[in-house]
Amino acid sequence: MSTDQQQDWSFAGIARGYEKYLAPMLSLWTQDLFEKTALGAGDEVLDIACGTGIVARLAAEKLGTDGSITGVDVDSEMLATARSVSAHDGVTAAWREANATNLPFEDHSFDVIFCQQGLQFIDDPAKALRQMHRVLRRGGRLALSVWGPLEQSPGYEALGKALEKHIGESQAGVNAVPFSMGEEESLRRLLEDGGFADVEVDTSTREVRFPSPREFFRREVVSWLAGAFDEPTKDERRAVVNELEQSLESYVDSEGLAFPMEVFVASGRKA
Ligand SMILES: C[S@@+](CC[C@H](N)C(=O)[O-])C[C@H]1O[C@@H](n2cnc3c(N)ncnc32)[C@H](O)[C@@H]1O
Repeated sequence: MSTDQQQDWSFAGIARGYEKYLAPMLSLWTQDLFEKTALGAGDEVLDIACGTGIVARLAAEKLGTDGSITGVDVDSEMLATARSVSAHDGVTAAWREANATNLPFEDHSFDVIFCQQGLQFIDDPAKALRQMHRVLRRGGRLALSVWGPLEQSPGYEALGKALEKHIGESQAGVNAVPFSMGEEESLRRLLEDGGFADVEVDTSTREVRFPSPREFFRREVVSWLAGAFDEPTKDERRAVVNELEQSLESYVDSEGLAFPMEVFVASGRKA
C-alpha cells in the first residue's frame, strides 16, 4: 500500500486525531502547570478548554481522594472523547460543556485553574480571565500555557510558509492562530488586568518529535487543520511535503524530525 493513500489523510473528526497526536505533544508541558500551582492532594481543580482531557488525566493521581477536577470546553466532540478516555483510564472527572467567557460556576468554587493551550482560541480571552478569577477561591492559583512566537517553533514556521506557498494564505493563517499570544508582556498584562496577583510568565522550551516531515504535516492535518479548511489535494500534499523536507532538513536525524518549541507558562494568584 502506498504511504500516501487518501485514507491516511482523511479527516475523521478533530477529537480522534487530536487525542492521538496533539494531546500527547502538549502534555510535554503539563508538569510545568502543576509545578507553578504546587498542585496537591485535596485541590479542587477547574481545567478550562480541556479538550480531550489530558490535563485531568495527568492531574488525577496528585489530587488524592479529597481532590476533584472539572473540565470545561465548548466542543461536545472533544468532551465526548474526554469522557470516554478518562472512564477507560479509571479517572474520575466532571465534564461541562460551556464557554470560558461565561463559566457556569459560583464565585469562589475552585482552588486551582489550568488552561493548557486554550486561551488563543477563546474569542474574548480578557473576559475568560476575569471569569477564571471570579470562580477561584481567595489564595487560589492559576497556571496557563500558550505557545511563544511562531519563529521559536521552527517546524510550524516552516509549515506556515509551505501552506502559504502551496495551498493558500488563509490556511497559513490558521496554522498561526495557536501562536497568536506569543508576546510575553501582553500576556502578563492580560492576567494582571484579569485581577491576578503575583503574575509570572516563564519560558519553557522542549523538543517535539515526529517520524518524518511528511508525518508531521499529516498529523497536523488529521488532528486539527482539516477542521479549519478543506482537506489538501494529493498534489498540494506532495508540494507541502517536498517543501518541508527541504526547509526542515537540518532538523532531521536518524530517528526523524525533531525541533524545539517555546511555550509561555503564565501563572498568578487570587489575592
Ligand atoms: C488546543 S486545544 C487544547 C485542549 C487541552 N487543553 C489540551 O491541553 O489538550 C484548545 C481547546 O480550546 C477549546 N475552546 C475554544 N474556545 C473555547 C471557549 N470559548 N471556551 C471553552 N473552550 C474553548 C477548543 O474546543 C479546544 O478543545
